[in-house]
Amino acid sequence: MAQERTLSIIKPDAVAKNAVGEIISRFEKAGLQVVACKMVSLSQEKAEGFYAEHRERPFFNDLVSFMTSGPVVVQVLEGDNAIAKNRELMGATDPKKAEAGTIRADFASSIDANAVHGSDAPESAQREVAYFFSDEEICPRG
Ligand code: TYD
Ligand code: MG
Repeated sequence: MAQERTLSIIKPDAVAKNAVGEIISRFEKAGLQVVACKMVSLSQEKAEGFYAEHRERPFFNDLVSFMTSGPVVVQVLEGDNAIAKNRELMGATDPKKAEAGTIRADFASSIDANAVHGSDAPESAQREVAYFFSDEEICPRG
């Protein structure tokens, strides 16, 4: 299977619940490696740019307010099939529909405060990784 990189964000609700370690632990236990990681408070502009594809959706303003409501932990995960593997670990967008044992089933309280973000395709992964990290900030571990 292809070695891939994907962008993961632990969202403000999960950071507030002190669940950062437990969530990263799930990635590591599933064989994904953290090759870049930082905690940041997103500006409104940075959050709007990140979710630009959703600009016309009715939930856009609430999504931006939520993403700027507290610090987030942004990571690059690397591994076999990393994009799909991360999405599988996350579970469905709406935690009510997320499979038992997924991150969203265990930590998310609603569809708009849903604990984690993960890139959904190779193109978005590349764009999203570059949106947060320079090449020098990414440390492949081989
Ligand atoms: P989306 O890309 O559809 O979901 P995912 O995060 O699983 O890739 O939507 C981006 C975020 O927008 C989602 O994580 C939470 C928020 N959102 C809502 O608040 N309400 C909604 O109805 C949808 C579809 C998304
Ligand atoms: Mg998405």
